[in-house]
Amino acid sequence: MQDKKFSPERQTAFAARFEAQKIAFGPVVFQCVRYAWKRGMLKALSDAGDVGLSLADLSATGSWSEYALKLVLETCLSAGVVYLRDGKYLLDKTGYILLSDAITQINLDFIGDVCYRGLADLDQSLDQQKPVGLAQLGDWPTIYQGLDRLPEPAKRSWFAFDHYYSDTSFPDILPDVFATQPRTLMDIGANTGKFSRAALAANAEVKLHLVDLPQQLAVAEQTLIDAGTRERAQLHPYDLLQKEKALPADMDLVWMSQFLSCFSEDAIASIFKRVAAALSERGQVLVLDTFWDRQRYDIASYCLINTSPYFTALASGNSKVYESADYIRLAEAAGLKLVTVRDDIGYCHSLMRFARA
Ligand SMILES: C[S@@+](CC[C@H](N)C(=O)[O-])C[C@H]1O[C@@H](n2cnc3c(N)ncnc32)[C@H](O)[C@@H]1O
Repeated sequence: MQDKKFSPERQTAFAARFEAQKIAFGPVVFQCVRYAWKRGMLKALSDAGDVGLSLADLSATGSWSEYALKLVLETCLSAGVVYLRDGKYLLDKTGYILLSDAITQINLDFIGDVCYRGLADLDQSLDQQKPVGLAQLGDWPTIYQGLDRLPEPAKRSWFAFDHYYSDTSFPDILPDVFATQPRTLMDIGANTGKFSRAALAANAEVKLHLVDLPQQLAVAEQTLIDAGTRERAQLHPYDLLQKEKALPADMDLVWMSQFLSCFSEDAIASIFKRVAAALSERGQVLVLDTFWDRQRYDIASYCLINTSPYFTALASGNSKVYESADYIRLAEAAGLKLVTVRDDIGYCHSLMRFARA
């Protein structure tokens, strides 16, 4: 599957030259199209339907200057977001996607509100393996210490991005979670507590152990208080980057969702070792994550690969969206063996099940 992706034979030399210009002007197109969406130009064209609107029609609304309309709509024209017919602008297919597709809007907001400014520091971030661009949002060693204090609109856009991916998968995986009848379940990277809340609601017997940084655990705790299940959970404020710190033991199941991608390979190796040591005799590990090599569609691989630079410039400086073989290799080195992998969960998740080797 991976070998077929992004084949170099797919374009002619002329098309390749055009593609190269799209890369060169990518940030310009991004900003103009985002303006057209956010400021209602695309919506106005959508409302006009097949009739379309002239520049005079649009400027008569008083919402935009004629200069802004010309400038922004011409870029939208060049990008296939709108088209011109008899002097009137109409929404093209890509424009309809921008106006109606949730994942497109979430990705645009994530790139615009969270990543755009910080990505200008990608070169320094790569050289230093530190998230140098994070200074655009706040003064923390990684973005995770600041998640609960991100400035708006970055906070809203970060959580919308994170939750859209995991929310679409959680309903589908609960049968996998309870397949081995775990009595103890550890949710590492519990975040806002959404998975723990769902697991506690799905099974009346299971005891939850939530692990995350202290600031995030406070948010998760409130989620469980609101759900009335706080007394069935223990909270463990841990910084998993402190490699010497062991995890609570005797876990029948360890759950890590969109968690390991926050770390370097070195840190993942250490986390897998501590997770293996925390398992009960029959304990297993479930890893829910996004792997660019296990996607059915190139569009999903494209989105995932291009999320990695966020991890470099904004999140941690040394993590990424990994290939599945990377996790399997690091888990095996920690004394675990892969039992199953299930793909096509939610928007683009795979679920890996590991047991003691
Ligand atoms: C991308 S979020 C995933 C959250 C959730 N599991 C989900 O699937 O939506 C990663 C989580 O890992 C936590 N995290 C990141 N670095 C950490 C560290 N060094 N120690 C403990 N937790 C950490 C973050 O606070 C955040 O809640």
